[in-house]
Amino acid sequence: MADARLRTTVKIAVIGGDGVGPEVVSASLPAIAAAAAREGAEVAFTDLDWGGERLLRTGKAMPDDGVELVQEHDAVLLGAVGHPELAPDVSVWSLVLPLRKALDLYVNLRPIKAWAAVPSCVKDAEDADFVIVRENTEGEYSGIGGRVHQGTPYEVATDVAVHSRRAITRVARHAFELARERGQTLTLVTKSNVSRHGFALWDETVYELGESEFPDVELEKSYVDAMAARLIERPGSLGVLVCSNLFGDILSDAAAPLAGGLGMAPSANVSPGAGGPGVFEPVHGSAPDIAGKGIANPIACLLSGAMLLRSTGLSEAARALEDAVGQSLATGEGRTSDIGGQASTESAGDAVRSAVSAAGLKPGRRVMNSGFSAPP
Ligand code: NAD
Ligand code: IPM
Ligand code: MN
Repeated sequence: MADARLRTTVKIAVIGGDGVGPEVVSASLPAIAAAAAREGAEVAFTDLDWGGERLLRTGKAMPDDGVELVQEHDAVLLGAVGHPELAPDVSVWSLVLPLRKALDLYVNLRPIKAWAAVPSCVKDAEDADFVIVRENTEGEYSGIGGRVHQGTPYEVATDVAVHSRRAITRVARHAFELARERGQTLTLVTKSNVSRHGFALWDETVYELGESEFPDVELEKSYVDAMAARLIERPGSLGVLVCSNLFGDILSDAAAPLAGGLGMAPSANVSPGAGGPGVFEPVHGSAPDIAGKGIANPIACLLSGAMLLRSTGLSEAARALEDAVGQSLATGEGRTSDIGGQASTESAGDAVRSAVSAAGLKPGRRVMNSGFSAPP
């Protein structure tokens, strides 16, 4: 994640993946390139055919040296995985999760912000402006577990949730910093009333960190079940949330309708302080029910692209892209059917690209402030 303003070219590895993944990615690339150009940067896209089709063809979703290849880039833009001919866990454990783990992308940022032009099915959704900070390397996604006595009535299966003080500390530190920067409360979301080992460690670690390093940041605690209701009932009461891997996964889908739905929710998998490439992807999956129809909403992918640009130091470009998304939503040209419009995936992407390039754009009118320090 070197500073792109000091270079002429930003190298982006592009993994369309499965289902609607390649559709939303290809609709987004021109607008991302146009936005970078506004800040004087060029982008070089490396198209990678990784995912389910490749796995079916070759036995591997990505090559053995895939992680090294990605590390030669400044960032990764990923569509989605989930191939209908593969068991769902195979799609996930052969690409997305190995990348997150191998690149040690310990923070998953999932900002939720309502758009004036996009209707939400949730009352008071316009108050939503918060970020879910999800631990991204362990917890319920440790991969430790197994099955015995398979196929018998005595069959037993386990999935072991792993919570380490180190992983909790580093993700919570990033969440505290973000809450401080945004001037908002940090809400720790756990289930320590039931999981009295792992989530007790979360509670202790985060409160200790708050006292020692962030006494100026207001910290509160919520149980995840109560948070599921609060997201919908009082979205305006939320600032920054920090939670375990699975809770962040579920809460981010639950919160997406505040912003208009899953087609509107971006995310960034990053490793703050490490300098390596992050993986930027929509919160949604491969959406097999609409794949191939050309109607998937590309906005989540475009906004992930804006997070990507910001991570490389191109904050004006990121802002221009977000502003262009806002304009295309306001005119309706950027609205696909899931958010009450008639645009196709491609035409929505085109509308955003035209808005990026158009004169008179007012960068800075609307900033996602989604987890990267904005330069002054
Ligand atoms: P999903 O997010 O793919 O789809 C849920 C619903 O949201 C569907 O009705 C779908 O049509 C809609 N939707 C999703 N993206 C949309 C878009 N851009 N525009 C309009 N509507 C959109 O979730 P799912 O159906 O539970 O999962 C499908 C597959 O995707 C599974 O194999 C799952 O494992 C995988 N998945 C992958 C990722 C990822 O790659 N990061 C994320 C979630 C799910
Ligand atoms: C997401 C997805 C992934 C997750 C899957 C595909 C591994 O649902 O990015 O939200 O559970 O993290
Ligand atoms: Mn998910």
